[in-house]
Amino acid sequence: MDASPIGVMDSGIGGLSVVEQVNALMPSEDIIYYADTLNFPYGSKSREEVQELACQAADWLLDRGAKIIVVACNTASSAALATLRNRFSAPFVGMVPAIKPASAATRSGKVGVIATKGTVQGQVLADLVAQFATGVDVFTRECPLLAELVEQGEVKSSRVHTLLHQYLDPLIAQGIDYLVLGCTHYSFLRPAIEEIVGPKVSVVDAALPVARQVQRVLTERDLLSARQKPGSLTCHATGDSRGFLEMARRLCPGLCPKGATV
Ligand code: DGL
Repeated sequence: MDASPIGVMDSGIGGLSVVEQVNALMPSEDIIYYADTLNFPYGSKSREEVQELACQAADWLLDRGAKIIVVACNTASSAALATLRNRFSAPFVGMVPAIKPASAATRSGKVGVIATKGTVQGQVLADLVAQFATGVDVFTRECPLLAELVEQGEVKSSRVHTLLHQYLDPLIAQGIDYLVLGCTHYSFLRPAIEEIVGPKVSVVDAALPVARQVQRVLTERDLLSARQKPGSLTCHATGDSRGFLEMARRLCPGLCPKGATV
């Protein structure tokens, strides 16, 4: 049993969509969240830059006693998960776009994936498609500016709608029946996305499976907290921490009862 916090990192607010699931599954765990808002966005940076930034984030979280680190960012997981596991001995859980379940469930044989440039062009996505999407057409789409709007708290503005139509209409026209959200920021756009793609397209992200994986790893290593009362959420943003917390309260009102602090 271990009362140390779970460390979670992202370039900004997106990883809180994973924190929501971690908190729902393991409410008595303390969570410490690192938002690298100073270096946001990661999606357009080189692999080497993202690796460097992810290592700084892991260092920071481990210095604060994190017992496990959740890389709640598809871009950073794609670019840096292997590097992190090589450099640090702590357990890491990363995000992978939900290609496997979407490919297993599609009836039309066509799956769409939206993500950042880094994730779409990265080797991890190519490997997932090669391994799990045999006989399935996977249509990938980079979505410049989408995470940026979410980071500013825009999840249903007309700008968001226009961009979403621009990115999603061609995928809908291809006949996809599954849409994979390959960036943790996009989970906050789920209602707007579902409205655009309609009921015939299932929208999937990896937040819940990742939370379950965190629970499995902690259980296996006997690292779950034995505490009975709710854990705390502490957020650290490398940029404006107070502004970040305000945004977090707005986008994740469900996390507020945990008494998020900076
Ligand atoms: N949240 C990050 C992800 O899941 C992307 C945002 C960014 O570009 O920094 O890929």
